[in-house]
Amino acid sequence: MDKNILIETAQKMMLKPKGILAMDESSPTIAKRLASINVENNENNRRRYRELIVTTPELSTCISGAILFEETFDQKMSDGTLFREYLNSIGILPGIKVDKGAKDFSCHPGEKVTEGLDGLGDRLSDYYAKGAKFCKWRAVITIGDNIPSDACIESNMNALARYASLCQENNLVPIVEPEVLINGAHSIETCNEVTRRSLKSLFNNLDMLNVYLPGTVLKPSMVISGQENQSRADRNTVASMTLECLQDCVPELTAGIAFLSGGQTDEEAETHLNIINNQANLPWRVTFSYARAIQAAALASWGGNDENIKKSQEILFDRASKCSMASVGSL
Ligand code: 13P
Repeated sequence: MDKNILIETAQKMMLKPKGILAMDESSPTIAKRLASINVENNENNRRRYRELIVTTPELSTCISGAILFEETFDQKMSDGTLFREYLNSIGILPGIKVDKGAKDFSCHPGEKVTEGLDGLGDRLSDYYAKGAKFCKWRAVITIGDNIPSDACIESNMNALARYASLCQENNLVPIVEPEVLINGAHSIETCNEVTRRSLKSLFNNLDMLNVYLPGTVLKPSMVISGQENQSRADRNTVASMTLECLQDCVPELTAGIAFLSGGQTDEEAETHLNIINNQANLPWRVTFSYARAIQAAALASWGGNDENIKKSQEILFDRASKCSMASVGSL
């Protein structure tokens, strides 16, 4: 592990006024996205869509790094350039999602545990040799009747820490993503309690495994009411409870924080980030690592039709620049 490499990469990822573009939808998720616009889910269409995203003019003014799915990381664009090399050439760091997905957690109905540690060290050294600079691993915590269990939180956070340690051994900055799902009718207070439990466990596990925090980026969900809650907390409450939770649970040494959008509307995702960045003296850089809140409108506008590429890229750029402005509180 070379701490200087990790710090240099993490600082580039967190450069103002940029954020991280998540475009690493797994096979089942990209299948859903393409189905939503009636486009067949095949390798060529996945390439066409992702090529539209990365060739958006001026994208690198708002985006510091892009998280790719394994397929895209090794895929060529229509002119034969590898996606990862193209990104590098336009000043966007290529990253890769390395977990193998959230699977049903044995003997814990309704809960998930993320898999992918077997053989991970060898995979990571290969990704680094091919030019990856950072990685992502997503853990999923579900709120419901009597869940999450401590077993679910602890198992997921320990796996995140083991992944992070393997990344750093290979000079890759780990993005650690403990996502508390927005699905359900729970209150913001319940989300707050679960997010705190998850983050405390995560940083305990990172500490236990000697993970180097200045070379680690946290990708959390916000503290927010469940989507089906009848009296959802307002924007200022979401921003202030999220910030308080992070201040209580995230060590200042952490390289930075980049939120997921997690089913928030585009407007919510950017407004919450903007309010948070209007608070004085944040101990870490706080930015975005959105997938849906950057891509959704552009995907719908494209609809699989090449004639719509330019319009769709304009929409994508507009979304990315709003998030970029929110990341410095100037929306
Ligand atoms: P969303 O912004 O759509 O939640 O996606 C972020 C992500 O990378 C989930 O793993």
